[in-house]
Amino acid sequence: MSISTVPSSTVPSSTASVPPLTEAERELLPTDDEVAHYEEHGWYLTKKLLTDEEIDELVDASERFYAGARSRTLPLRPPRLAYWEPGDGAVQRHNDYIHVESDPIARILRKPLIGAVAARLAATQRIRLFQSTLIHKPPVADEPSNIVPWHFDKHYWATCASERMLTAFIPFHDCGPRMGTITMIDGSHLWKEIGREDSMTKHFADRDKSDLERVLAENAAYNNAQVRKVQMEIPKGHMSFHHCRTYHGSGPNRSDRPRRAVSLHLQDGDNEYRRFELSDGAAVTYNHDALVRRLPDGRPDYADPEYCPVIWSDGTQNFTTELGGAALG
Ligand SMILES: [Fe+2]
Repeated sequence: MSISTVPSSTVPSSTASVPPLTEAERELLPTDDEVAHYEEHGWYLTKKLLTDEEIDELVDASERFYAGARSRTLPLRPPRLAYWEPGDGAVQRHNDYIHVESDPIARILRKPLIGAVAARLAATQRIRLFQSTLIHKPPVADEPSNIVPWHFDKHYWATCASERMLTAFIPFHDCGPRMGTITMIDGSHLWKEIGREDSMTKHFADRDKSDLERVLAENAAYNNAQVRKVQMEIPKGHMSFHHCRTYHGSGPNRSDRPRRAVSLHLQDGDNEYRRFELSDGAAVTYNHDALVRRLPDGRPDYADPEYCPVIWSDGTQNFTTELGGAALG
């Protein structure tokens, strides 16, 4: 399937305001103790943030997407785009930029409550979407592509200035070990990293899997830490969050149903592009860099509302986005 160019006018502009939470939604925010747990352990299992109807719509909309439905398509295919197509067969499916290509899915991913939970965890006032990936693990116990080896997301976000970014893993059903749920390495977001290797900025799909086991073991030893694996048992409508430096991975799907999910990557309001060079002086790029608008100084704008919309803003609920302007304050 090819990705065609569409006029930018067909892309909806950013939300002009984020509605406040209801009283019932405020009850679903992490408590102070839960925020402290996240700071100590690097992960958090939420309360029920999505209704059964919202989850069922995610399933239906994802099936329509897999059948070819698009609200729009990306204007170009950036260099490292994960983009499953039917011709790829019964491998693990990853489709980046699902919030751009599917409005029905984006509407649910942009639910302010999700952003408000993220803002509490990241201790920030504003949350923007950074990336979202629709995931489908086929129920094939020995399918090698279903294994997601240990990694942490910041490795892929070297061009992001923030160290507080975080990810929500949102399954579309009850999700436990039998389905190959996400597994966190407890407390690993606090580890110091052994001398950074250029290869760590590569996406895990491009890297040697045994090498990643080695990296995890060596980093744990370097920190005098035990590798403690915590498998997330996530009821339908709940989700897990993890810090951008928390090692995580996931195993085979041994159930008789596909494991469906979205990986929703979020950035705090202060995040912005920074130049990051490999040892040979080459600048690392992220897929956004080929898509988003530019800041006045020429850097990619990670606050471009077409790709990185604000989903939560504390305090002043109203804000404006000016096309071609600098990042939101
Ligand atoms: Fe990840």
